[in-house]
Formats: sequence, C-alpha cells, structure tokens
Amino acid sequence: MSPTKALEQGGEVRIGLASLYRGDALELYRKWEEPTCIISDGPYGLGKYPGEPVTPDKLGEWYAPHIAAWSQHARPDTTLWFWNSEIGWATVHPVLALHGWHYEECCVWDKGIAHVAGNCNSKTIRGVPVVTEVAVRYTRRAALSGIDGAPLDLKDWVRSEWLRSGLPMHLANKACGVANAATRKYLTKCHLWYFPPPDAIERMAAYCERHGAPAARPYFSLDGINPPSAAQWQRMRAKWNHTHGLTNVWTEPPVHGTERIKAKNETGYLHANQKPLALMERQIRSCTDEADVVWEPFGGLFSATVAALKARRRAYASEMNAAFFKAAAQRVQEEAPATFGKLRKAA
Ligand SMILES: C[S@@+](CC[C@H](N)C(=O)[O-])C[C@H]1O[C@@H](n2cnc3c(N)ncnc32)[C@H](O)[C@@H]1O
Repeated sequence: MSPTKALEQGGEVRIGLASLYRGDALELYRKWEEPTCIISDGPYGLGKYPGEPVTPDKLGEWYAPHIAAWSQHARPDTTLWFWNSEIGWATVHPVLALHGWHYEECCVWDKGIAHVAGNCNSKTIRGVPVVTEVAVRYTRRAALSGIDGAPLDLKDWVRSEWLRSGLPMHLANKACGVANAATRKYLTKCHLWYFPPPDAIERMAAYCERHGAPAARPYFSLDGINPPSAAQWQRMRAKWNHTHGLTNVWTEPPVHGTERIKAKNETGYLHANQKPLALMERQIRSCTDEADVVWEPFGGLFSATVAALKARRRAYASEMNAAFFKAAAQRVQEEAPATFGKLRKAA
C-alpha cells in the first residue's frame, strides 16, 4: 500500500524490511511479528499532542495498556528500551515491573550545555538546567515448568533438572568439561549463579540421558519432547552485544543539520522530539542481530526504524499523526538502504 492510501485508510506500507502503519499502536501489536527489541519513545507527559497527559503523574495509566500488550507479545529474549524524562520513567517503572519487565540499567542521554545555552535566565531560574533524557533497558525473566508443573525461574529449573537425574552434583563438572564452574555457577542456589553457556546445557542434558535415572521426559528439554539445543537455550534470555568502552552516559547533541527533518515551507523542525539515529542504532545493535524484529510503536519520524534498516534488522512501526506519518514514511524510503541484499537469517 502507498503512504497516501495508508493515510486515508490505515493499513500497512512496506518499504524494504520495514512495515509502517498510520494508526494507534494499540490496534497494531497483534498484527506484528514478535519483537526481539521494542524501542518505546512515547509521551513524556508534556501535553504536546492530543491524548498526551499534560503532566508526568498520569503516565503510568497512559502506558499501562501498551505495556500489557508488549508483555503479551514479548519472548524471553525480548529487550525493551524505554525513553522518557527521569520523572516520567520513575512514574512508569512500577507498571513495567508489574508486567514482568526486569530493570537492567538506565542510560542517560547528555545533550550537552549547548542545549540550553542562551535559554537560561539566571535571575529567574530555580534549579539546574535539564539537558538529559533517559533510555532505560528492561528484559524478561523466563520461567520453565518444574517436575510438578509449577513455574521455576531458570536458576531453580537448571538445578532441578540435574537433581531429577539422581546423579551427584560434582559430575556436572565432568559433563561440561570444566574444573568446577558447573557446580559453582550453573547449578548453585546462591547469588553466584549465572546462565549456563548453551553448550553446557547440551552437555549436561546428554550426560543425564546417558548416566542418569531413566526418564520419560528428556533432561533439560525446553519443549518437553526433545533434548535441548544450544540455539533454543540461547533464546531463554535477552541478547547483549557488548561495546567496549561504552558507559551508561551517552553524550550526543540534539539532532540538527541534515539529519533533522524540517517542516515543509518553514524553517522550523517538523517534530519536536526527533531522536539521534546514532543512539537508536546503538540501542538496536546492543540487543539484536541481523534480521531480528524491532518494534517502534511511537514512531514520530521513525528514527528507530531507519536505524534498524541501516543495521539490517526488520522493523514494525506506527505513528498516529498523519503529517508525521507521511514525512516519516518518506524518510524511511529515502534513508533506508535501497537494496537490502540477502539476510544471513531467513527473514
Ligand atoms: C516522542 S515522539 C517519537 C519521536 C521519534 N522517536 C523520532 O525520533 O522521531 C512520540 C510520537 O508517538 C506518537 N504516538 C503517541 N501515541 C501513539 C499511539 N498510541 N500510537 C501511535 N503513535 C503514537 C505521537 O504522535 C508522537 O509523534
């Protein structure tokens, strides 16, 4: 469908690996493929567009149906990046936690002093000028069925699968080919636990099958039928692609120059909140791989979608406002690579 038709009738505009929608994200999530990453850059409680709360204190209520839908469609390996002001995030955090989003870290976008230069009257100002927004990373915590069918977190589940075999704990080290990491780390009950590497799960499963008590259900099986595979186990937690030297303070000026989308026939900017592509790309690369799915429910000018396409990810995005949608769809068309080539993973 063309952007013009989408403006008139709603519906999907496909551009390369992106699916763009003009409409309310709440109506669209069910049509989208499950996300590996959600970039939420919605209302900050500034009353800037119809329906946006005018203060941050109502943001929790505003976001609640979206957060419920994200939880419904998320997988254990889905990451959420939640953009807001500090107070906006503080207000919404309890709702995110209630819906199973696990706080990982808060990254601060430092726009620099130039952001407020010339705008501060030291005679009247009553606090420090604000030059920051936050991008907060949340992940999911997987639960798997224990022997009695009750849900267990991954730490308890891994331990209970080994115990089910009847084998002594120390043999897990032999199974994994490690000195003592299996007993000290993978099977421990304490805070030193960490997520066993995928090959360790495969090795423990194979060892229990060979030497453990006969069992109807394969050991460490994630579907109850087949032995676990490394790839399946890998998907039980969010991805993290590390960039050495990067901290949680992101110094980046607000978008100006050619990246900034201007209003037609005017000198002003089209959208007040256009985010830097560099930051969007950083977020996407940190938690997805090529061909993974990125959601951008509050699209604005579809900055996350443009960044996703540049990084060869697939994107689903929506924007309610017709003027923003039209400009954003055109931007995706122009800025996304013209040819996408073959993705490494089947799209
Ligand atoms: C903060 S702006 C996003 C800016 C965007 N990150 C960018 O770089 O251009 C939020 C946008 O979400 C849109 N929006 C708000 N509620 C929405 C909803 N329920 N569904 C779709 N879009 C929505 C608003 O019209 C606004 O353009």
